[in-house]
Amino acid sequence: MGIEVFWYKKNKKTINFLHSDTIDELSLQVENCTKCSLHNGRTQTVFGDGLLQSNILIIGEAPGRDEDKQGKPFVGRAGKLLTEILKSINIQRSDVYITNTVKCRPPDNRNPSKEEVDACSNYLESQIEIIKPHLIILLGKVAADRLLNLDLPMSELRQKTYYYKANKIPVVVFYHPAYLLRSPSEKSKVWDDLNYMKNVFTKNVG
Ligand code: URA
Repeated sequence: MGIEVFWYKKNKKTINFLHSDTIDELSLQVENCTKCSLHNGRTQTVFGDGLLQSNILIIGEAPGRDEDKQGKPFVGRAGKLLTEILKSINIQRSDVYITNTVKCRPPDNRNPSKEEVDACSNYLESQIEIIKPHLIILLGKVAADRLLNLDLPMSELRQKTYYYKANKIPVVVFYHPAYLLRSPSEKSKVWDDLNYMKNVFTKNVG
C-alpha cells in the first residue's frame, strides 16, 4: 500500500551542494534578467519553487498577478486548484518542482510570445538540466505550443507522450488549471490525464 501511495518518489535523485549552488546562481541571473521587454512590468521574477530532487517537473505558462506579487509560481486560484489536483493522487505540492515558460508576468496576463519564451528558454533548460526530472508535465496549450513547437488543440496534445530534447525525458500535457476554473465541466477529464501520467511515469521509471 505504501509503495503505491509514493510511486512518484521511486528512484529519486540526490541533489548535491553543487547543484543547489548552481540553482541559486541561476535564480540570481533570472532576477537581473533584461533579455526581453517583460522585465519592464515585473514586480519581481518568479523563478520556480519546490523540491530540487523531485522526479516530476511541472511547467506552467507565465506568472500572473499573485505570482508577480509573491515571487512564487501558482500561488493564486489556479495554483490552489493545481495543489488539489496533485493531492487527489497523493502527491504533495512540496514533492514536485514547479516553474513557468517565462519568469516574468506578461502585461494584463496575456500569453507570452514565442520570442519571450525563447528569450527565457536558457533558464528553463538549465533548470531541467539541474533537476533532471523523470517526467515533465506541461500545463495548457501555450506551454505545449511553445515548448514542443506544436500548434495542436488540447484534445490532440493530451494523453500523448513527447520527449524533451536529447535527454529523452517523457513530457505529458495537462489542461491548465486556469482553464479548468473557467470550464468546470472539463474537470473530470483531469483523472484521465493523471492516470495517463502515472502510467508514463511507471513505464519509464519502473
Ligand atoms: N498560471 C501559470 O501558468 N503560472 C503561474 O505561475 C500561475 C498561473
